[in-house]
Amino acid sequence: MEKIKLNIEKVLGFVSKETIASYEAKVKDCIGMLENGTGKGNDFLGWLHLPSSISKELLKDLEETAETLRENCEVVVVAGIGGSYLGARAVIEALSNSFAWLQKKKKNPVIIYAGHNISEDYLYELTKYLKDKDFGVINISKSGTTTETALAFRLLKKQCEDQRGKKMARKVIVAVTDAKKGAARTTADKEGYKSFIIPDNVGGRFSVLTPVGLLPIAVAGFDIRKLVEGACAMEQTCSNPATPFWENPSAVYAATRNELYRQGKKIEILVNFQPKLHYVSEWWKQLYGESEGKDHKGIFPASVDFSTDLHSMGQWIQDGERSIFETVISVCKPEHHLEVPSDEENLDGLNFLADKRVDEVNKMAELGTQLAHVDGGVPNLHIALPALTEEYLGQLIYFFEMACGISGYILGVNPFNQPGVEAYKRNMFALLDKPGYEEESKAIRARL
Ligand code: PA5
Repeated sequence: MEKIKLNIEKVLGFVSKETIASYEAKVKDCIGMLENGTGKGNDFLGWLHLPSSISKELLKDLEETAETLRENCEVVVVAGIGGSYLGARAVIEALSNSFAWLQKKKKNPVIIYAGHNISEDYLYELTKYLKDKDFGVINISKSGTTTETALAFRLLKKQCEDQRGKKMARKVIVAVTDAKKGAARTTADKEGYKSFIIPDNVGGRFSVLTPVGLLPIAVAGFDIRKLVEGACAMEQTCSNPATPFWENPSAVYAATRNELYRQGKKIEILVNFQPKLHYVSEWWKQLYGESEGKDHKGIFPASVDFSTDLHSMGQWIQDGERSIFETVISVCKPEHHLEVPSDEENLDGLNFLADKRVDEVNKMAELGTQLAHVDGGVPNLHIALPALTEEYLGQLIYFFEMACGISGYILGVNPFNQPGVEAYKRNMFALLDKPGYEEESKAIRARL
């Protein structure tokens, strides 16, 4: 299998290759800490060998459950937030036809998302849209108590039962949650829903290759075995302490971004030139933001969709404060073929592009942007994906996960916890008078 490629050539005008190579020993230590479970957060390392250890039985069970949902639903709502939805959405949107859900004849159920906000209008409009639809729900929550997801699921469960009857609802509602804890588990057991377990030692943002990501991806009609195979190929390269530094893209990426950060590049912008990759960036932002943003440290992960955002953020990136670097995900080969037609009158002056593929124009936009941004003082890392397929997305996922573990350890933080996420929840529960928060309620009211 061809591999995705990381190219750091356009960083070398800012940081020398020797400086990056000087991270080799540190990186080796970090890989050793991950492998031996001797670093911070070592109770959340289940993702490390997940691709190579997924059982055939689990894959089969996921595919059969997906088939039941596909046969019985025209729409499937994936309810989850953060790590319990971004990975699935990233892969599904990257592989889907951009207009799939507007097409009359649909090959796959329409996948929509809920439980990732608390917007009354969003939820109202969702319930309205579902009114005449045969829909199912995948309720994903590791803790089983996340307010956003639980609230959406309460509405969806009732609507599904009212519309489709209790018996069919039992068939088309699936839970992905903890083996024992949480309200989602209690409900699933009591109602007799089919359920999948999120392993204890896999945190939300590292869980895309568990049923959290795999079930919705299979329901959407994509090949989860190929996704896992791709991840497996990268696992063999990137988690293997014997892989030489320069042949391990996760090691090189982690070292390069840490050195850039040390030199004052505090913001990393993940760039794509394919709108289908928008949610890959959203997934990546959570992976790195939640893993590294702690102890008052960490690169701020941002993202743009080019060339769209060259017309909005391009000015800042070219010429604003020089605290950024870019990592571009580039797709070498588009799935389809489309050429620019020639036009006799040439009123739009575009005949210089006639007969060229649209992708060639896009690639020149990409190259031109890279050169302009490097000239403007923005170091540029480049990740080449041969094509947008399950295999290469699987590779990309594992590459980023492994690099994140190494990078967090180089930075000196625990990349596998997220204590900061609790602060807003405590305040929200106090403000909403949740039982058990009486003291906090009093304290917070005194501040208003
Ligand atoms: O990465 C994480 O841990 C978070 O983003 C969680 O996935 C998110 O908060 C959802 O949590 P849960 O799956 O418990 O509902």
